[in-house]
Amino acid sequence: MIRTLALCPISARANHTLPNLDGAGTMSLARDPLAFIRAHTRLRPVPHAPEIVLHVADEATDLWQKTEDELQAIGLPPPFWAFAWAGGQALARYLLDHPETVAGRTVIDFASGSGLVAIAAARAGAARVLASDLDAFALHAIALNAAANGVADRIAITGENLIGSATARDADGVLAADVFYERDLGQAVGDWLAGLHAAGRTIFIGDPGRAYLPKDRLVPRATYQVPVTRDLEDAEIKTSCVWTFR
Ligand SMILES: C[S@@+](CC[C@H](N)C(=O)[O-])C[C@H]1O[C@@H](n2cnc3c(N)ncnc32)[C@H](O)[C@@H]1O
Repeated sequence: MIRTLALCPISARANHTLPNLDGAGTMSLARDPLAFIRAHTRLRPVPHAPEIVLHVADEATDLWQKTEDELQAIGLPPPFWAFAWAGGQALARYLLDHPETVAGRTVIDFASGSGLVAIAAARAGAARVLASDLDAFALHAIALNAAANGVADRIAITGENLIGSATARDADGVLAADVFYERDLGQAVGDWLAGLHAAGRTIFIGDPGRAYLPKDRLVPRATYQVPVTRDLEDAEIKTSCVWTFR
């Protein structure tokens, strides 16, 4: 089976349908997830935010297969956590260069993946950071990466689906990077974040213009040329923006 992890809409994928990520956080990790992550990644600086290092993979589909072999399961979510996505790199850069946006505040990094944006928020001086992801491997990767950057004590991690949650309403702001790659998820996240913005929360979105980004509701705050993994994006550089609601 040909599998691709590129963030195109599902309908454009060749011979592969992403599993429903809802509930993916309940997958059991059969063996030692930290050892698995260490064995299949290398600790490297993030190209567009080299102040931060992450455990990243060289190649996506091979790691995806290894994950399914490790868990003896099929239909698992792709290893999004093993890459610094274009939107995440842009938002991380923005937070590091504009620490006043999060300094002293309680923020959520929704759909954190590797933990990149959460780590940038902690490095920028956020008082508290909650990183969320539905993928159980991501939760371990966030912990490992937070420790590698010396901010493990400042980042809490949850596998709860925070869309519409009271947890998010209690935070000062929500950061969301590269989450508009699927229609249903994009719609749900767009509506949810718009509601939080209307309620006075600070929202920052990092995104290179994925298919379901609600551009008509957003304004770009910063634009970056972000080095990305050719295997994922079919490009070496991707123009990626940091967006806020109008
Ligand atoms: C393309 S990755 C982006 C990761 C990271 N924000 C970055 O920019 O590098 C998308 C992530 O969204 C997560 N995800 C999807 N739906 C989610 C939800 N409802 N709650 C939390 N995470 C979710 C996936 O597990 C995956 O880690």
